[in-house]
Amino acid sequence: MTYPVWYVPFGSAWIIAVIATVHVFISHFAIGGGLMLVLLEATASRHDDEALKGWLKRRSRFFLLLTLVLGALTGVGIWFTISLISPAATSTLIRLFVWVWAIEWVFFLAETMAILVYYYTWDRLDPFAHRIVGWIYFGSAYLSLVAINGILAFQLTPGRWLASGSLWDAFFNPTNLPSLVARTLVCFILAGLFTLFGLAFTKTGPRPDLVRRSLLWVGIPLASLPLVLFWYFKAIPPEQRLIAAAVPYFNHLALTALFAMAAIALLAAAVWFSRGKVALRQFAAIMLLLGLFGFGSAEWLREDLRLPYLIVGNTYANGVAVSALPELRSQGLLATSQWSSVKAVTRQNEAQAGKEIFVMACSQCHTVRSRLIPLGPRLASLDEGFASWLAYRTDLMRGGMPPFPGTAAEAEAVAHYLRVAALPEAISSDGASVFRRRCGVCHTMSGSFRPLARVFEGEKAEDAVSVLNDLQSFSSDMPKWTGSETEKSALAQWLVAQSNPAKKGAS
Ligand code: HEC
Ligand code: HEC
Repeated sequence: MTYPVWYVPFGSAWIIAVIATVHVFISHFAIGGGLMLVLLEATASRHDDEALKGWLKRRSRFFLLLTLVLGALTGVGIWFTISLISPAATSTLIRLFVWVWAIEWVFFLAETMAILVYYYTWDRLDPFAHRIVGWIYFGSAYLSLVAINGILAFQLTPGRWLASGSLWDAFFNPTNLPSLVARTLVCFILAGLFTLFGLAFTKTGPRPDLVRRSLLWVGIPLASLPLVLFWYFKAIPPEQRLIAAAVPYFNHLALTALFAMAAIALLAAAVWFSRGKVALRQFAAIMLLLGLFGFGSAEWLREDLRLPYLIVGNTYANGVAVSALPELRSQGLLATSQWSSVKAVTRQNEAQAGKEIFVMACSQCHTVRSRLIPLGPRLASLDEGFASWLAYRTDLMRGGMPPFPGTAAEAEAVAHYLRVAALPEAISSDGASVFRRRCGVCHTMSGSFRPLARVFEGEKAEDAVSVLNDLQSFSSDMPKWTGSETEKSALAQWLVAQSNPAKKGAS
């Protein structure tokens, strides 16, 4: 480990998630909204529409505050937090993309200058020149998205870069284009949602022509988004998609995003066809909230798609470089880290050593007993042998975890630390919960992740018991049975019943 770890007991992932969600929401809105602003300004000056112009003028102040204050603060906030939480990957990204970052910075500078000039010159510049300034604002905001999008896409699909090391391959990677198109559509949708919201709260009442226009900004890109997202997913290597499919909460994120999209579409249709009879304020507010949740979930899911990596094929999610793994596994994490206070696990220092290993290798995604995937109670409910077995085989489990970056003795120390740091969960020994504890971490029954149902098809409970007695003959990656005999027979019956649904009633 080249860098020390900033340990946050309640889970550092929260901090990134909150700041990043706010930032992407604002930045995408600033782009789409910027375009909408100049286009509406053109409409206003074509029709000599002073009322519209006045409204746009007040709105441009909101843009100014949004980009200059919130956008810049959260943008810098992301840098600050990722460099504390993932210093190794951040440093790789900075070195590789140094010119892209520099270019992005210039665009951001242009964007902030343009919005300042735009806001302060409504009545000083002639309308055409003023709109040009607006176009510069939109153009530079969009180009900074183009730069960042390439880097985000790179982390998920580094593509040919892994072999060539070339910046060109890194930037123009397989998901760059589909992701840019999807983000562009999101920019339009958010612009439409925000404008609708703004219109609903104008003192003179919403103008029907502008309401319809905002609805089109929402509806048309929303209708094309599913196809673009399909294109995006197709460009992601199947093994990355499989990992995501095996974790229940990733599926929840995907469902939240899809639900939000469908609900926004329905509400937009309701506003459109009711011709202003629905309560626009409530509708617009709900649609905006749905946009925030849906987009937030989709971004979170995208971050998780690259697990177990931060940069696929290069850096694991706990900051361990892929190239450093063999040395860590043979020499030990404590011995090779310059930040550990103990250099090897002994009987006396086991809990301290375990804590330091937990902080370095697991705390990026887990907590000991807080809300974010707590490991303490879970491992405290297992017998010590099985808990250590699991800790050493993180890469075999569902969840897209990096391989354990240390020796088997170090995994034992982590399991020991976690087991003593928490109280066991209330456990029951019915078949389903035994399966969840003992098998479900690495298998599903019928899903796509090492499904077991076909193994027990047509078998009887006695056959299942003999399978459980002899797990290691199937794969040396499986633990010996260390549970009780009661648990074993409950599990055997459950496995057989699940795999032979027709006989469920009979048993
Ligand atoms: C990149 C993030 C990440 C890292 C790093 C990570 N894990 Fe996990 N871990 C997960 C996810 C995600 C799950 C699945 C949670 C779920 O299914 O809800 C998981 C599940 C587990 C489980 C199974 C819990 C259960 O449901 O029974 C164990 C045990 C575990 N991790 C141990 C570890 C240990 C030990 C380390 C450090 C050596 C570690 N993990 C590092 C993300 C991670
Ligand atoms: C630490 C992870 C892990 C745990 C826990 C685990 N397995 Fe496995 N299991 C594996 C791996 C790895 C394989 C090898 C096959 C593969 O890679 O698909 C395997 C293979 C199997 C096979 C052979 C599958 C086949 O298609 O031939 C059976 C049966 C099986 N496991 C049953 C179980 C049962 C029952 C439990 C719970 C008591 C269990 N396993 C717990 C990792 C695990």
